[in-house]
Amino acid sequence: MCGIVGYIGYREAWPIVLKGLKRLEYRGYDSAGIAVMNENGEHIYKKAGKVAVLEEFAQDQDKSGTIAMGHTRWATHGVPSDRNSHPHSSNNGKLSIIHNGIIENYATLKEELINRGHEFKSDTDTEVLIHLVEEIQKIENIDLLEAVRLALKEVIGAYAIVIMDQDHPDRLIAARKGSPMVIGVGKGEYFIASDATPIIEYTKNVIYLNDNEIALITKDDLLVKRLDNVVQTPLIQELQLKLEMLEKGGFDHFMLKEIYEQPRSIKDCMRGRIYPEEGKVQLGGIKEFAEKLKNIDRIIIVACGTSWHAGLVGEYLIEEYARIPVEVEYASEFRYRNPIITEKDVVIAISQSGETADTMAAIEMAKERGATIFGICNVAGASIPRLTHAGVYTHAGPEIGVASTKAFTAQVTVLTLMAFYMAQQKGTITTSKLIELLTELDHIPEKIQVALASNDLIKEVAEKIKDSTNCLFLGRGSGFPVALEGALKLKEISYIHAEGYPAAEMKHGPIALIDEEMPVVFIATQNSSYEKVISNIQEVKARKGKVIAIVTQGDTEVKKMADYCIEIPDANEAFLPLLATIPLQLLSYHIAVMRGCNVDQPRNLAKSVTVE
Ligand code: F6R
Repeated sequence: MCGIVGYIGYREAWPIVLKGLKRLEYRGYDSAGIAVMNENGEHIYKKAGKVAVLEEFAQDQDKSGTIAMGHTRWATHGVPSDRNSHPHSSNNGKLSIIHNGIIENYATLKEELINRGHEFKSDTDTEVLIHLVEEIQKIENIDLLEAVRLALKEVIGAYAIVIMDQDHPDRLIAARKGSPMVIGVGKGEYFIASDATPIIEYTKNVIYLNDNEIALITKDDLLVKRLDNVVQTPLIQELQLKLEMLEKGGFDHFMLKEIYEQPRSIKDCMRGRIYPEEGKVQLGGIKEFAEKLKNIDRIIIVACGTSWHAGLVGEYLIEEYARIPVEVEYASEFRYRNPIITEKDVVIAISQSGETADTMAAIEMAKERGATIFGICNVAGASIPRLTHAGVYTHAGPEIGVASTKAFTAQVTVLTLMAFYMAQQKGTITTSKLIELLTELDHIPEKIQVALASNDLIKEVAEKIKDSTNCLFLGRGSGFPVALEGALKLKEISYIHAEGYPAAEMKHGPIALIDEEMPVVFIATQNSSYEKVISNIQEVKARKGKVIAIVTQGDTEVKKMADYCIEIPDANEAFLPLLATIPLQLLSYHIAVMRGCNVDQPRNLAKSVTVE
């Protein structure tokens, strides 16, 4: 949440920072601001609203300079407004700061600073931090780097910050704890950003700043220290990201592009990991724990939102094939309970962004209690892969649409591979069964392509139900998490109230909602619960509900009852979630577009939720 960008070097800084903010807008779009420095001093431009609003506002202003920093905000402390937008300045106006994260003890610090005569211009926790730096520098009479270091030692919370100093227009100070920060290394220039996307077109060489590190950056030099003052030798890594991955590539929205990328992203996710002819799965990321997997008592999956839904699919698969008991927990609930965790437990943390605060806290807690932690993450180098003992990347490529699509199916793919891998280790599956399953899994990308071909039909169905105010999604078995995911997609991008339920639970309450106005989407594919789902469809039809059914190609039974049927290719039950999700993503997408909603940046949401 919140995106930060900084530049110091020889080029005009404003366009670099502005473009970077547009790339990071998925992290929050409540307000945007940029500070740029030139021979006339520092100029700060900031506005509530999207980056485009800031761009227009600053159109005719003095924006020249080769050092700048910018911020796109997802509001936590203080409403989205011009005055709460970043950058914020110190009391004397000489220092300014951009910040991603939360300063938890800001209220106490603020009170002390007010007593010392500081005046605040915003309601943010961030402004308190820059006043604190100024106060420490004044009292201790020390240089800015040292003052920032001491201030950060007083701070409780999470931060990625960049600080600019009018007295030293040749330097930036950056630091991180709990919020991501990447430094791009150029020739005679450095770039700073919350992720690598604003940097990729200028340099492939990056440094991922670690927690509790602080950097002093000039155009020719970089000094990295830990908060305990020990100087570090930063590790320069090469980015694997490609620029075209960050563009819409002819699609109207990133979300649609990402939906259509799924045959490719799933292939990438399986590449080098499955060997159908041999009936073998290889997961290099967790192989050092292969022996341990033979004797674990239990798996606990922790995640939030869509990633939690992927976890529920994982539960079905791991229990079915590896016969290990699985519990799936909301990270936010798990971390605040006093859960029983032993050294024989494996905790799998799933996160697209790798930055979700609740998931990170759940990992820390489980780690302290001795569990082995595996991560399933999409963003390379993010915080979660660094916190875990081992893990498997999803390799879905950058997901820019705020609503998760290809990351979800890639997470489900990794969980499928993990289930088979664990089954292989435990001997709960035969090689011939694995040959059969992996051969089919290998062809799932083609089947997804077939599912995508129903787009025009799905658009017609969307037209029929787009004005609904409520919608139910029902499924059984692994169709239930698919229903949950379908409901979440619809509500988050179209603002239609939607609920996902196990189909059999409908009669225990939600059935009261059903009338001719209520669309009910059924996952009614031909699997072990097919007959039961048909009974549930009949119950809805008897109450005049409008039924939209996701069915297996060639289905005749459901077609007799449902108002609209969308076909997906037949597949082993293990792979149905991967296929049945596709039409639901397209359905939400078209409904949201028809309702005039901002599909890629739905209101109030942000892609990486770095606050609790
Ligand atoms: C919904 C969505 C969110 C995320 C959730 C967890 O489309 O994207 O529900 O799944 O915020 O995020 P990650 O996976 O980054 O931990």
